[in-house]
Amino acid sequence: MEEKIAALRAELEADRAAVHTKEDLSAFWQKYLSKNGSVTGLTKSLRDVPKEERPAAGKTINAFKVWAEGEYQALSAEIEKAELAARNKAETVDITLPGTRRETGALHPITRVKNEIIDVFAGMGFEIFEGPEIEDDDHNFTRLNVPKNHPARDMQDTFYVAEDIVLRTHTSPGQIRTMDTHKPPIKVLVPGRVFRSDSDATHSPMFHQMEGLVVDRGITLCDLQGMLDKFVQALFGADVRTRLRPSYFPFTEPSVEVDVSCFECGGKGCPLCKHTGWIEVLGGGVVHQNVLRNCGVDPEEYSGFAFGIGIERIAMLKYGINNIGLMTENDLRFLKQFKD
Ligand code: PHE
Repeated sequence: MEEKIAALRAELEADRAAVHTKEDLSAFWQKYLSKNGSVTGLTKSLRDVPKEERPAAGKTINAFKVWAEGEYQALSAEIEKAELAARNKAETVDITLPGTRRETGALHPITRVKNEIIDVFAGMGFEIFEGPEIEDDDHNFTRLNVPKNHPARDMQDTFYVAEDIVLRTHTSPGQIRTMDTHKPPIKVLVPGRVFRSDSDATHSPMFHQMEGLVVDRGITLCDLQGMLDKFVQALFGADVRTRLRPSYFPFTEPSVEVDVSCFECGGKGCPLCKHTGWIEVLGGGVVHQNVLRNCGVDPEEYSGFAFGIGIERIAMLKYGINNIGLMTENDLRFLKQFKD
């Protein structure tokens, strides 16, 4: 029995040195201390020991068992400690490292200018109204005093979706839609996307407009200019002035083209204003009496003014953008310049 135990001790000690992981440890336990383990097996072999030697042999076996179990406990504690240390090491955070920055987005220049325009007019008591991008011929043309086959239809290169259905060529149908649903006094702003079959450095088949419409008693062209003065000063600076030039739109009479004094050179002449001192920014006029009548508004009692602002045009002027294509290309190098 003594030799048997000595041999087992030597084997166990050799194996113990190779235990490094939880898996090794459980294999060690299986081999020596489980029900079928060799240390446990010693008790069974007591049967073969002569009766008088059994008590002493039993003692020796028990002492060996206690020792083996102690070895197992020590190993287990060691592995536990090593695993905890490894885990702590893996989870260590270096608080001196720079943090990961979250990139923030920015508003598109069109949205910025649109919001800015809305802010100015909202301050004057205008309400916002939006109409559909797909319009019928009636709202887009006919009731705006542009009858079928009228030569003025050529002014806007129209995308037809079907007979009498168009992608709206301007936000002016918003005038009809507000007058259909609201009684004067009316003061609305109609922002939206519009579409024309036209494309070059300053024209895009899809662009944005902002329509303005005021209908009340005694409204004149002077009211339009007064309001636009305030608008361009808010947008381009307190020193700019407006100039009205006669123009033609079928839905306004008289019609005007509105210029601002060049905010780049103060009116002396520079490349931005093509050396004229003035920059064209929008079209407008006094609402044509036929348009009022088409919406059931009595022109003897009410009058109004309307204007249409090209948002891309304002944004290009304001930020010095020379190609309208940049607005829709989504080039981050361009868009990131509008972060504030
Ligand atoms: N709808 C016109 C255009 O797109 C602009 C305009 C609006 C003119 C309102 C007069 C009055 O060209």
